[in-house]
Amino acid sequence: MHATPVRRDLKFDLDRLPPSIAAHWHPLGAPVSQFYNAMSLFFPEGERFFIHSVRHFRDRLDDRALKDAVTAFIGQEAMHGREHDQYNALLQSAGLPADALVQYTARLLGVLKDHLSPSLQLAVTLALEHFTAMLADLLLREPALLDAAEPSLRALWRWHAAEETEHKAVAYDVYQAALGRGAVAYALRTAAFSAVMPLFLAHVLAFQLRLLAADRRGRPSLRDWARFAGFLGGRRGLLRQMIRPGLAYFRPSFHPWDDDNRDLLGAIDELVAAYQPPAATMRRAA
Ligand SMILES: [Fe+2]
Ligand SMILES: [Fe+2]
Repeated sequence: MHATPVRRDLKFDLDRLPPSIAAHWHPLGAPVSQFYNAMSLFFPEGERFFIHSVRHFRDRLDDRALKDAVTAFIGQEAMHGREHDQYNALLQSAGLPADALVQYTARLLGVLKDHLSPSLQLAVTLALEHFTAMLADLLLREPALLDAAEPSLRALWRWHAAEETEHKAVAYDVYQAALGRGAVAYALRTAAFSAVMPLFLAHVLAFQLRLLAADRRGRPSLRDWARFAGFLGGRRGLLRQMIRPGLAYFRPSFHPWDDDNRDLLGAIDELVAAYQPPAATMRRAA
């Protein structure tokens, strides 16, 4: 194991932000702000789905260290869900249809829970964890993706990114422990990734458009859209830089720590110092 995930109780107090900032917190403009917001709407329900799918296999694990990592993974995802719930409440208070879109996400994931086998649910989790790991790597590596953004939201995204990096292999290791490394396991995980990625990105873009349409402060300018195009597809763009690590997932021998990016985890210390509530610090010291 390259990194040991740790559950950290950080609070970003997003309820203190004025709702007017919700659609305009990123310096690259409303489409970029709403792209991040759209992803945030998926997280709380998505993370509960990840927890559910991994927990199903926890009791069957023999490896003590992996069992502990699963417990920490569950703790981290639960904390992410809590803070993203507050983030999404900020969007709702700005008059954006956050609650309705979260409910839609819950229904969608409910269908997956009802109809997919536990192994396939875990393969879906693996696919989305690989997406979040790629996103996390870029958010921590490319300062331009979050620089000059509203400080609390920037901190929340960086904290989430650091912990996604820390636990990026946990679901994957559970999957290998449960399903092995053979042809069936490979076929299932790559088929799930191929199906889930376009569906997920299409949903994020649809949510983004819905949020932009609901913003009473007006439509984005052509310049805003040009910046968004660069943000996703430019030379250092988010999606463009995901092509290579996305394709790496199809290597039969792939493992999330093939890309050893532990150097990015240093971001955590500064965030803990700034955002851990005093009570949590005292509990830990006791
Ligand atoms: Fe998360
Ligand atoms: Fe995660």
